[in-house]
Amino acid sequence: MRFTRAAVAAVGIAALLTTAACGSGDDSGGTGSTKVEVFTWWADGGEKAGLDGLVSAFGTACAGQTFENGAVAGGAGANAKSVLASRLQQNTPPDTFQAHAGAELLDYIDAGQVEDISADYDSWGLKKAFPQGLIDNLTVDGKIYSVPANIHRANVVWSNKKVTTAAGITADPKDLNEFFAALDKLKAKGVTPLAVGKDWTQLMLFESVLITDLGPEKFTGLWNGTTPWNDPGVTKGIADFKKLLSYTNKDRDALDWTDAEKQIMDGKAGYQLMGDWEAADLDAKGFKDYAWFTFPGNGTTFQWLADSFVLPKGAKNPEGTKCWLKTVGSAEGQKAFNTKKGSIPARTDASPADYPKYQQAAMADWKSAKPVPSCAHGSACSQGWQGAANSALGAYSTNQDDAALTKALTAAAEQFGKKK
Ligand code: BGC
Repeated sequence: MRFTRAAVAAVGIAALLTTAACGSGDDSGGTGSTKVEVFTWWADGGEKAGLDGLVSAFGTACAGQTFENGAVAGGAGANAKSVLASRLQQNTPPDTFQAHAGAELLDYIDAGQVEDISADYDSWGLKKAFPQGLIDNLTVDGKIYSVPANIHRANVVWSNKKVTTAAGITADPKDLNEFFAALDKLKAKGVTPLAVGKDWTQLMLFESVLITDLGPEKFTGLWNGTTPWNDPGVTKGIADFKKLLSYTNKDRDALDWTDAEKQIMDGKAGYQLMGDWEAADLDAKGFKDYAWFTFPGNGTTFQWLADSFVLPKGAKNPEGTKCWLKTVGSAEGQKAFNTKKGSIPARTDASPADYPKYQQAAMADWKSAKPVPSCAHGSACSQGWQGAANSALGAYSTNQDDAALTKALTAAAEQFGKKK
């Protein structure tokens, strides 16, 4: 997919920053700062471990620069994104921030909030390091604005092996019927069959069901306007999703993904649908009794998302930020980060043997997979659309009103899907 929207040009500011940074010999872009404030939502567990890996690679590659942690906790950026939005609005950006590749990044590009770093891509050799599909995805009107740190997979079910074995589940469910049968076995054992958290985690679950009920092409079509939200596959998806919700914990709307994950670790729940940051988080927390499988019925579909980093307009230390970005894209940086984060490197030159077991499997899957994007994690939809979808799912969790959900999702697609 190639984005065609006119990028907001702010060549003047970009040129000014570059001149200041290069012309003065001062590596702070003229502001005197050698601190690089890195804004993410990676505050704990496997996420923090991944960030720490990147920070150590940065320390080696960028002598004279200091990392400053601007992390705001909350899964999927639930809190970070609003803090970031107000900082960008007040023109007090961090030196760099985490943004999902795809539609979410486009929001920042269209708002003129991030710099074109195409020339750095050339000098850092990144056009050859990343797969062409990803480069195409990051390119807007011939320009590139971010450096991807990884590829994550969203459509994965995690389980507590002891709990599923005790319930008599002997094989991974391959389709929804088998999944429901396994959930019934867990229910009979008195554990929560499927742990889930609040809005965005429910959106992830719903998206996985839609991939099964629509197939990958039609699922992708929901986000590019070729599949209507009243398609019979969506109607079936809502019915299946409703049934799945009946197997979940009642306190779901109050939980973050790590709270649902804790139910798995504590043996109180059997399964959880979550992105593969869960592998790293379980590892970081020392929990070993886990297994995983692709969401039943998704086949070889790999629902991808990528964390990337940008150079915001008005960053205090653009040269330091560039060293951070160069580190993020480097072989060393990607290894230090991804071996701890549960994701696979965006670069194609990584060696699977360097990675934990889960990522080795994901790297193999990615090669032959059918990729589809994620709305919950910004590769498929803009932040406005994502917010509307989260609210629609949050409301559905309480009212279970199928018609209201279809209406809200149709309205969101109409409002946010036509901004091409
Ligand atoms: C990010 C991941 C992160 C996850 C949970 C996703 O949106 O891309 O890096 O681990 O949210 O916080």
